[in-house]
Amino acid sequence: MTVSSERMTIDLLDPALYQRNPHDVWSWMRANEPVYRDEKNGLWGISRHADVMDVERRSMVFSSAGVYRAVFSPGESNMIAQDDPRHRQQRMLVQPQLTRAGVATRTEEIRSLVAELVDEAIEKGHFEVVDMIAGQLPARLTSRLLGFPEEMWPHLKSWSERLMRTDMRERDPEVMAEFIEANREFIGAMTPIIGEVAACPRNDFMSIWTHARIDGKPLPPESIVHEVGLFIAGGAETTRTAISHGLRAFCDHQDQWEELAKNPELADSAVEEVLRWVTPLNNFFRMALTDDVIGGQPVRAGDRVIMLYPSANRDEAVFDKPFEFDIHRHPNPHLSFGFGTHLCVGANLARLVLTTVFSELAQKAKNLTPISEPDVEANIFARAVKSFTLGVTPR
Ligand code: HEM
Repeated sequence: MTVSSERMTIDLLDPALYQRNPHDVWSWMRANEPVYRDEKNGLWGISRHADVMDVERRSMVFSSAGVYRAVFSPGESNMIAQDDPRHRQQRMLVQPQLTRAGVATRTEEIRSLVAELVDEAIEKGHFEVVDMIAGQLPARLTSRLLGFPEEMWPHLKSWSERLMRTDMRERDPEVMAEFIEANREFIGAMTPIIGEVAACPRNDFMSIWTHARIDGKPLPPESIVHEVGLFIAGGAETTRTAISHGLRAFCDHQDQWEELAKNPELADSAVEEVLRWVTPLNNFFRMALTDDVIGGQPVRAGDRVIMLYPSANRDEAVFDKPFEFDIHRHPNPHLSFGFGTHLCVGANLARLVLTTVFSELAQKAKNLTPISEPDVEANIFARAVKSFTLGVTPR
């Protein structure tokens, strides 16, 4: 990509910027001003892979506490809104079920659900990807994981969509009203379940949080609500985005789709490339607790930084031919799940779900053709897809 050196003025909180997947902008930043000063929003934009890893790695200097999204959330007490050691203590409550071995116990359960959805989707030769697979599957699995009755998945899908618009709520009263309503609805739905699991423990996360003790004390009720909210948003919307944009990428690379169909052992590296290529989450934020330096640029205590994952994932210093989609890419140290202490706790589950979806579809369908393009919403946080219709030929 040819990159101009004339300074760009970039509004790093402009939803329309993210909507258009602006690799021209990210390439300019990496080449000219890798730690970019966005004066309008008082942000340092971190565009290089090494600098994103540096910020993530030094979590005691670059804090998440109440500042991990564009809109501040003081008092939020799920794991991601806190720093270590409290972050770690809360994370450890659910991590055992989400290790590689932990999620492997769900392999058959996930395979049979994916097979059912794929068979139904491809039957007519075309399907609405979000409705039939990408939105439905993670919403159902997240319902199971948290302990909601599975038939509530359409609600969970809708809560997830509205919660993921968190950064837009202060600029749009309608988004704010829908955000508050989504919170009201999921808290209403979880309250009776918390009562049930308090009396009769189960293996799901709502039960684990209800019975948890940290330093001998139970998790405060508001922390349980915040953890549930985090998993609703993080568990459902992200995998949905990876499936939707990933299938769109394969429409342009039918040769690689056929290769995947013939060699199922390519599924792992194909999924890593989908994750790099799509980068479902655009960014996370941190605040410097002390004066420091990032990539040679001094920053002051109290300064905010935004880590630009889509940019890091196309960094030519790390990836050979970063603008080529290549399911054989190895190594593939993408940062789509972040890095360091807050590294996505659901990464193993997401990987299992994605390899199952792409393998199953490649085995059963060919000739992927976009009938409508992915309808990406203007959203600072995620490359959220509202709808996408795909044509296929069943094998
Ligand atoms: C393709 C799918 C997914 C992507 C791209 C993704 C991406 C991310 C990213 C970038 C972070 C922040 C990492 C950081 O700050 O360094 C994160 C954190 C997190 N994710 Fe995911 N995620 C995905 C799937 C999931 C799933 C399936 C779950 C739940 C089952 C989940 C739950 C979480 C939680 C709870 C955190 C906070 C972790 C912490 O603070 O320690 N994610 N995710």
